[in-house]
Amino acid sequence: MPPKKGLPPAEQVEQVKEVEAHFQQWQSYLKLVENNYLHHREVYSRLRQFLLGRLSRPFLLLDLGCGDACFMVRALEGTAISGYVGVDLTKAALALAAKNLAVLRCEHRLMEKDFYEIVQEAEIKADVIWMGLTFHHLPQPQKAKFLHLAHNILPADGYLLMYEPTLLEEETRDQYLGRWWRTCKNLWRAMTPEELGRSRNHVNNHDFPEKLSTLEQMGRQQKFAGMTTLYQDPDKLYAMMCFAA
Ligand SMILES: C[S@@+](CC[C@H](N)C(=O)[O-])C[C@H]1O[C@@H](n2cnc3c(N)ncnc32)[C@H](O)[C@@H]1O
Repeated sequence: MPPKKGLPPAEQVEQVKEVEAHFQQWQSYLKLVENNYLHHREVYSRLRQFLLGRLSRPFLLLDLGCGDACFMVRALEGTAISGYVGVDLTKAALALAAKNLAVLRCEHRLMEKDFYEIVQEAEIKADVIWMGLTFHHLPQPQKAKFLHLAHNILPADGYLLMYEPTLLEEETRDQYLGRWWRTCKNLWRAMTPEELGRSRNHVNNHDFPEKLSTLEQMGRQQKFAGMTTLYQDPDKLYAMMCFAA
């Protein structure tokens, strides 16, 4: 299905109801993850290395759009994690997350909520904020507001890490959508035509990838000290970034 015309700026906030409806079919997303089509193995292993290398002190981690937290549990193994909060809209994913997190030997809780509301709560605290394929659902003005709120939550030595779809430096969103579709329809062989169609529909209507340079600039505008790219997939459709508070 082609992208809806006028998106954004006509809609300036994430369409949470539609996004949630897509992810209620969790089994279909799980198939992408199990086949490593979204590079979860590489990304969460990189996250683990980062947490082991940079955070020797106990730390609180806020996982926004945590999904079933399956790979997160592996990334936290052996780290100094002292508290974990996972936030997601999707009941089906949170039910699995509750089971997956049972092995975590630190305080942990799950919240069925919109993460954009959570980051506005005065009492929310975290040393590390993680977003795995969630930030790109926000249209650009909401991304800027989110970065501002995230910076307020973190201590001076805290980090915002994310793994997200990203545009090439000379690419438009429409060009990205075309490149994404050409790549995925060839590589995602385990998916049925119906599953591919649903993914395409979701991406066309709800994904707003940015250039790495735009993200770095937006981070600096919201007082982050800088942004580092920690991983890019072989097709350069996705990147993992770290914003130092
Ligand atoms: C692509 S999945 C990623 C799940 C997991 N982080 C991972 O790395 O596999 C995106 C998740 O973000 C959640 N999500 C999207 N927008 C959200 C919002 N505004 N608040 C809370 N969760 C959200 C969806 O329900 C879904 O579980």
